[in-house]
Amino acid sequence: MGAMTSPATAARHRPGDDRPPRVLRVAGPLVEIACTTGVAMHDVVLLGEDRLPGEVVAIKGDVVTVQAYEYTGGLAPGHPATPQGGPLAVRLGPELLGGVFDGLLRPLTRVGDLLLASGRSTEPDGPSWPFTPRVAEGAHVAAGDALGDIGASVPLHVLVPPGCSGIVTRIAPAGDHAEDSPIAVVDGHEVRMAQTWPVRRPRPVRERLPADVPLHTGQRAVDLLFPVARGSTVAVPGGFGTGKTMLLQQIAKWCDADVIVYVGCGERGNEMADVIEELSVLTDPRTGGRLAERTVTVANTSNMPMMARETSVHTGVTVAEYFRDMGLDVVVIADSTSRWAEALREFASRMGELPAEEGYPAGLASELAAFYERAASVRILGGADGSVTVIGAVSPPGGDRTEPVTAHTERFVRCLWSLDRDLAYARHYPAVSWADSFSRDAAALAAAHARAGDPEWAERRGRVAALLAEADRLADLVELVGVTALPPRERVSVLAGRLLREGLIQQNALSSSDAYCTPEKTAALAEAVLTVIDRCIELVDSGARADAVEAVDFTPLLRAREDAGPRETAPVEAARDLVLARLGELV
Ligand SMILES: Nc1ncnc2c1ncn2[C@@H]1O[C@H](COP(=O)(O)OP(=O)(O)O)[C@@H](O)[C@H]1O
Ligand SMILES: [Mg+2]
Repeated sequence: MGAMTSPATAARHRPGDDRPPRVLRVAGPLVEIACTTGVAMHDVVLLGEDRLPGEVVAIKGDVVTVQAYEYTGGLAPGHPATPQGGPLAVRLGPELLGGVFDGLLRPLTRVGDLLLASGRSTEPDGPSWPFTPRVAEGAHVAAGDALGDIGASVPLHVLVPPGCSGIVTRIAPAGDHAEDSPIAVVDGHEVRMAQTWPVRRPRPVRERLPADVPLHTGQRAVDLLFPVARGSTVAVPGGFGTGKTMLLQQIAKWCDADVIVYVGCGERGNEMADVIEELSVLTDPRTGGRLAERTVTVANTSNMPMMARETSVHTGVTVAEYFRDMGLDVVVIADSTSRWAEALREFASRMGELPAEEGYPAGLASELAAFYERAASVRILGGADGSVTVIGAVSPPGGDRTEPVTAHTERFVRCLWSLDRDLAYARHYPAVSWADSFSRDAAALAAAHARAGDPEWAERRGRVAALLAEADRLADLVELVGVTALPPRERVSVLAGRLLREGLIQQNALSSSDAYCTPEKTAALAEAVLTVIDRCIELVDSGARADAVEAVDFTPLLRAREDAGPRETAPVEAARDLVLARLGELV
């Protein structure tokens, strides 16, 4: 947002003028306050007796414009305003895991389909967490070092905060401690389990590393054709109803990250309530724990105020960086970045900014870039490796991919999973287009698969992609002249396209065996379908009739993805052998 990225400008302090700041004017969410002491751009100001939070968006002399994050009904001129002396910062601690929060990271409670403010824990000091120290008093520590371990649902540490280093003069004994109680004193600074961090400032790391380790999403269309590396970026553009939310929810449930931060941004509240409900009953196939316990949900649904929607993506990435700094692999899912961009647009028009493309502010591209740039595979300050992967849905109005949000986003991401309206209409799910999607991580990941014992990975991917493209090329011809007019080899190509689409690429999100797929089962399914296709080619090449090949019952092969469990390969091989035997009867 243009106005927000301008350099910080502090209102000048006039000596002798120490009237407390007060509200001058209220125009919807924009509130002007008279304020003569040091406030800076982006600082948080609490408005009125109810202390509604807002953010400084303009400073002209001693009139400061604050954009309220909440409904300003009841706020009037003369009411007090309380600058907080810094930009929006959030409290980061173990309590985040399993929680549902608004864009400012205030807890929400689910009541039916609604998400309502709930207030922090009712215990006086908040809940306690088991703490085990790792260092002794007198030790020398530097920023990012672990002072001790926190016993939470994923392994967490108490870290020496960025910018702090020195001698540990006090460390808490092993035992239960509240998030806000002092755990250690380092170089005179008290360190607690929970720490605050400004949401728009990336947390520091030692270095960025190449992103070359696969994030297994459990979705074959992605893992096989358009794979994503840990620390990479993905955009998922698709028109209304093409399955963006379903795909992102599948990834939230089944990808092999340590922590998921799910940012529901401007989408329907009941969808958020559903995903929270589902996560609370599902178990993590890797750990056996509840999936909810590795998930942090940031919800700013369509019925909540726009301004907090703008901050929610920054809040989400900041939460992700906090877990990354524990040496974990984190995935941030934002559904939808288009709704977030709409908040930027609304804000710019309210501020009377000169609109650029389609009413979006001129700073749209840099805002999008700044968001995706926070994704990275890194060496953290403490020396271990961690990553933040960002996956954002994009909802182009009318499916028009040239509109500004989609067009800019496509320039900034390493992977694009483009959802195709025709596939969705045909109920081919997930509707990831093999013609319009890309993965710039594929070459690096081919090497990673080879190192991990699957040197065939790149060739398999190439064959599947080529066969799908060939079947697409023939589809128009088939529509025109019918399949029977094609030469036998091309009829097998058409058949191959169908077997690949139905037996391999489609995935049923509602089936317990097919909802997610391990790399081994994905490889087995691909091998099975490719082997059957090869056999069909051999048959027609040696004179078998194409219609006889087409008439073979391929059902076991097409049903293998649902008949075999998520990590089973033997039933897939059995289905392949059964179909090969049926083909064998043709000679
Ligand atoms: N993987 C899937 N399996 C089964 N049905 C799906 C799948 N993906 C999408 N659908 C169907 O499409 C509908 C719309 O999907 P949704 O994710 O809400 O679309 P979008 O977020 O793009 O508007 C869903 O309600 C569901 O019926
Ligand atoms: Mg959706």
